[in-house]
Amino acid sequence: MAIISDNDKSKPKKEKNEDTNSEQIPYDMSFETNIRPKKFEEYTGQSALKSTLKISIEAAKKRELPLDHILFYGPPGLGKTTLASVIANEMETNIKITSAPALERPRDIIGILMSLKAGDILFIDEIHRLNKISEEILYPAMEDFYLDMTTGKTQTLKSIRIPIPKFTLIGATTKAGALSSPLRDRFGIIHRLEFYTEEELTKVIQRTAKIIDTKITEEGAKAIAGRSRGTPRIANRLVKRVRDYAIVKTNGIIDEVTANKALDILQIDKFGLDNTDRSLIEIIAEKYNGGPVGIETLATALGEDVKTIEDVYEPYLVQKGFLQRTPRGRKLTPFACKCFNIKTAENFQQSFDF
Ligand SMILES: Nc1ncnc2c1ncn2[C@@H]1O[C@H](COP(=O)(O)OP(=O)(O)O)[C@@H](O)[C@H]1O
Ligand SMILES: [Mg+2]
Repeated sequence: MAIISDNDKSKPKKEKNEDTNSEQIPYDMSFETNIRPKKFEEYTGQSALKSTLKISIEAAKKRELPLDHILFYGPPGLGKTTLASVIANEMETNIKITSAPALERPRDIIGILMSLKAGDILFIDEIHRLNKISEEILYPAMEDFYLDMTTGKTQTLKSIRIPIPKFTLIGATTKAGALSSPLRDRFGIIHRLEFYTEEELTKVIQRTAKIIDTKITEEGAKAIAGRSRGTPRIANRLVKRVRDYAIVKTNGIIDEVTANKALDILQIDKFGLDNTDRSLIEIIAEKYNGGPVGIETLATALGEDVKTIEDVYEPYLVQKGFLQRTPRGRKLTPFACKCFNIKTAENFQQSFDF
């Protein structure tokens, strides 16, 4: 069966952690379960999205109907999976969590659809990776709540329609563009998750510190927030690392000085960039004169796969204004050149242009 985890059963079965799939980072599941917000009040930021969802939830409850199908997209770690569980809690329904790579065979998706009860939420992570057959099984299920099945041998082949309970599909993807349009069109609500502001991340960090029983000053939380790439998952990971440092090197309290020292040791700079980000910038600067350079070439030079660069590294670098996507490839911005003291051919040109 393709179910990875079931909200109403206990969590430990989640050994195939859907979070690490997208980011390949080993993650402590008990920590993860404790800090994951369960209600809208605990879910920081994304206020526009939350308001829309609250209205949809209230309307669905009043009409005693399931919610429209929802698609969340955005870079990893911004809270798509979390939000799906929050919605299930707010709707007081069960959620079944799976991901597209686990739905390889038709019987995986059929099995999971037939196991749903009325009002249940089915969460499919990485939904852009669903294969064509599974996708086609999903269409009538999403639209009219039935499965189209064929029975019998070639000569007596019969098509039957099996009704399934009215459910809500929540899909999550890092790449909305990779979704086929018939699938995308079947979602009533489509929302992009945004990077978090420093203030929002400060709140996330303070909440996490409280849950893991660690004292943190506001400046300490801000220092971590500033280096968390706008991403709660990274903020939470850094809180843990800084907490370890504080326990070993100081009195266990995270203040600004302790946070900055620990983050320096972790080689995360003031922009929140880590070694891979910096290598990516350096390679474009040194090997390709600031770009443009094709993503495949860049991936080979960096020793990373294209998907990781596109999904994990690039969105933040673009958002910060360091990197530009052009039709001819990736290019460093003048801002990046200034911040990292990079001289590209174009920059050289400019310096002779006066
Ligand atoms: N809005 C939020 N407020 C507080 N914590 C959050 C929020 N969004 C995400 N998190 C935390 O960040 C981590 C990653 O979130 P997750 O939902 O798994 O991201 P995604 O599914 O988008 O990759 C989780 O540990 C979760 O607790
Ligand atoms: Mg997720």
